[in-house]
Amino acid sequence: MRVDVLTIFPELFGPFLGTSLVGKAVEKGLLDVRLHDLRAYTEDRHRSVDDEPYGGGGGMVMTAPPWLRAVRAVSAEHPGGRPWRVLLTPQGRRLSDGVVRELYERAAERGLVLLCGRYEGIDERVRKTVVDEEVSIGDYVLSGGELPAMVLIEALSRQVPGVVQQRESVERDSFREGLLDHPHYTRPPVVEGLAVPPVLLSGDHAAIERWRREAAQKATREKRPDLWDACEEKRVKAVGGRGGRGAEGRGGANGG
Ligand code: 6GU
Repeated sequence: MRVDVLTIFPELFGPFLGTSLVGKAVEKGLLDVRLHDLRAYTEDRHRSVDDEPYGGGGGMVMTAPPWLRAVRAVSAEHPGGRPWRVLLTPQGRRLSDGVVRELYERAAERGLVLLCGRYEGIDERVRKTVVDEEVSIGDYVLSGGELPAMVLIEALSRQVPGVVQQRESVERDSFREGLLDHPHYTRPPVVEGLAVPPVLLSGDHAAIERWRREAAQKATREKRPDLWDACEEKRVKAVGGRGGRGAEGRGGANGG
């Protein structure tokens, strides 16, 4: 999977791309991330990438010409035809498991170019001419698109076959079924007087599976009632009853 990143801070990505799962994916050649310094596409002596906003007001706006040159130059280098171009901005579509999977399909097919904005924003004509899609990682404001780009790259890399050792852990990850993950335990058996749920030591795989599913449902109900409501249909089927435990509803999150 090839991902090109346009940024004025390529150095932010160094340790991220060399460490842990992402680092291994890069090492194995499963993930090919190329960093491009936007300033290399400026043409003035000061290599400036921003200017004052038309209409006044505070802050600075990133100018269009370096972005247009950079996006077009980097796109032309792509082997698989025109890559999918994503602008990281709080105005974008909110990232979710579904959006990650969708973007992974695009990335696997023709590669991605990620545009990391800074300052108060990017000249609107960049968005209008060379951006296919805008993506946000949540409703809060960061100073630039670099951390969101790393979030996206890490999430995408988990979709690449061979990156996560146990495919099962991707398939059954949080959110894949619209549920949060179940709790996890490992040695030692007792921590601060808290024992491991005995079923996990029973060796009864069917019982363990049942416990995990119920624990995942409980966690979702209590911590993310919005997700719980959204997956009600699936949940009713999984529980196997008409309506299941739907009557418990929300609000009783902590069991009363
Ligand atoms: Cl993608 N960019 C910035 N600057 N802030 C954000 C964001 C993106 N997503 C959430 N906040």
